[in-house]
Amino acid sequence: MQPTNPTRDSNPKFLILPALPPDASAIIACGNAAFAASPLRAAIWPAAKAHLTPASEFQHWRIARKAGKLEGGNLLSFKAVLSEAPERLVGYAAWMAPGAFAEQGSIEPEGEQLPACMDGEVHRGFLAQLDRERERVWEGDSGFWYLAALGVDPEFQRQGVAAALLRWGLEQADAQGLPVYLEATPEGVALYHRFGFETVRVLETLENSFEVPIMIRQPQSKLPALEG
Ligand SMILES: CC(C)(COP(=O)(O)OP(=O)(O)OC[C@H]1O[C@@H](n2cnc3c(N)ncnc32)[C@H](O)[C@@H]1OP(=O)(O)O)[C@@H](O)C(=O)NCCC(=O)NCCS
Repeated sequence: MQPTNPTRDSNPKFLILPALPPDASAIIACGNAAFAASPLRAAIWPAAKAHLTPASEFQHWRIARKAGKLEGGNLLSFKAVLSEAPERLVGYAAWMAPGAFAEQGSIEPEGEQLPACMDGEVHRGFLAQLDRERERVWEGDSGFWYLAALGVDPEFQRQGVAAALLRWGLEQADAQGLPVYLEATPEGVALYHRFGFETVRVLETLENSFEVPIMIRQPQSKLPALEG
């Protein structure tokens, strides 16, 4: 399945477009800004290990990895850009369609070689925790949409960017009568509630110092109107 342009109904200040490999670097910059305060990021990329990989090498690895994900495969990725300056990326989202986990098992490739500056144990342990929880909830059923990523540049938050980015996947799910599943951040919960998600469980991670709300949205017949 290829992402189509889901711009309809969104804030005219922003355009929602499919994200492609050349967008990798801008998506990483946007993610860095959106998740700057994330304790999970700080644990996976600990400051104490930063010296183990040259910054340019790490950046190159991240861009190449992100570009690979944007090539297609199981991820359906979108970017939000300014209508008046489309080179300015202000948000991104990535979805996995129903059945994708049945093919792939996990969101990340198994046995991936990580740079020395990353804490591989925390990274793999967290992903395995998400995999276990997803398998526990769905028990082999792969009939759900999965929101794999969502981030908005802090400079453009609370202007409807995330709502516009969410819309495409929610519309697919509603049209197919399927639920949507995601692992939220504490910052994302209010947004997801607004769009009909409910918290079904809260995972404790990072030695019980960080909470990950697991949220599900049942299919609906109508999405809330967007403002702005
Ligand atoms: C969560 C996040 C994606 C929201 O993006 P956004 O573009 O600011 O969200 P929107 O403007 O589309 O918000 C739509 C509605 O969601 C709710 N909402 C969004 N952010 C909210 C917040 N911080 N507090 C309370 N409600 C919020 C509101 O109802 C909002 O409508 P309103 O502004 O008319 O009140 C953004 O804050 C972000 O990137 N945070 C850091 C990264 C992150 O946590 N990503 C989620 C990963 S699961």
